[in-house]
Amino acid sequence: HGPGECLNHWAQDCHFLLYLTGKEGLTHLPSLGPSANPAQGKAHLKQCDLLKLSRKQKRLCQREPGLAETLRDAIRLSIMECQYQFRNERWNCSLDGRTSLLKRGFKETAFLYAVSSAALTHSLARACSAGRMERCTCDDSPDLENRKAWQWGVCGDNLKYSTKFLKNFLGQKKIGKDLRAKVDIHNTNVGIKTVKNGLKTTCKCHGVSGSCAVRTCWKQLSPFHETGKILKLRFDDAVKIFSATNDAVGHSELVGTQRRSHSPKTPATPRSTDLVYVDDSPSFCRPSKYSLGTAGRTCSREASCDSLCCGRGYNTQSRMVTFSCHCQVQWCCYVECQQCMQEEVIYSCKQ
Ligand SMILES: *[C@@H]1O[C@H](CO)[C@@H](O)[C@H](O)[C@H]1NC(C)=O
Repeated sequence: HGPGECLNHWAQDCHFLLYLTGKEGLTHLPSLGPSANPAQGKAHLKQCDLLKLSRKQKRLCQREPGLAETLRDAIRLSIMECQYQFRNERWNCSLDGRTSLLKRGFKETAFLYAVSSAALTHSLARACSAGRMERCTCDDSPDLENRKAWQWGVCGDNLKYSTKFLKNFLGQKKIGKDLRAKVDIHNTNVGIKTVKNGLKTTCKCHGVSGSCAVRTCWKQLSPFHETGKILKLRFDDAVKIFSATNDAVGHSELVGTQRRSHSPKTPATPRSTDLVYVDDSPSFCRPSKYSLGTAGRTCSREASCDSLCCGRGYNTQSRMVTFSCHCQVQWCCYVECQQCMQEEVIYSCKQ
């Protein structure tokens, strides 16, 4: 399976999400063109080789020009969103230590699984409606609104295809036996579901001078930032899992404790929207195999320095920054500014 770590919580094969959230994601890939042009023939086959995929995933990748690039989009999207959502946390979603983190069942691991599958779902559905894939196109639900939209050349995001494809791609049918496998699958599904719940109907008016004589509506995904924000809230409220019940039919349910608002320590099944975890997280204050620690992190004195610096205190540094000021319009359309200087204070966590 090439360089890098390959864990197996899902099936016999390496799991794609581990690649997706692993360090190789950003570094091993050359930049691709803006779209996978079918005229380029077999170029996408090479892109599939560069991704660390299981045999089945590689086959799916090779069959679908445009998929490799979409996978790459998803990797980038999930990393950017994770780092944005955790910019003020001790664990800042840096790629350092991620392989170790993925071996454990922390809350942070849960977030990584969810944000990765959400980004995949999102990117795939968008790639379909943007015409970047050969095997899918606009949302083709048979309802009337949707058919009208097609007539006007409006293309809804194809979440139905992306969800179906993804479940096959990730091989979720082979439910793993151990608790961690179940937890990972649950969190992956939370990601997919969050994207699904964000699907909105958007409408547009047609007709003489916007009279709205004809209205077309189609399904549109929320901006991925909204999904990221919701997943971060789920992270803050994640449920710790103790065991899984196993019915005779092989159907199983995770058992956790109920939220604070209920009586504590009551066993309960987590909701399908809850992120779940099994291991308590380390503090992430000091360098460890999971993170670089928080030394040197810049923080906001009012908001985050106390928690981010773990009581070690912070350094204060000031520097002069220049910016444009006293801007005035000269003639039409020409703006002249002066350069002003201002002192800016930067706080950063001590060693
Ligand atoms: C995360 O924190 C580490 C340790 O201070 C720092 O080196 C790194 O640049 C940060 N990464 C991001 C994405 O903010």
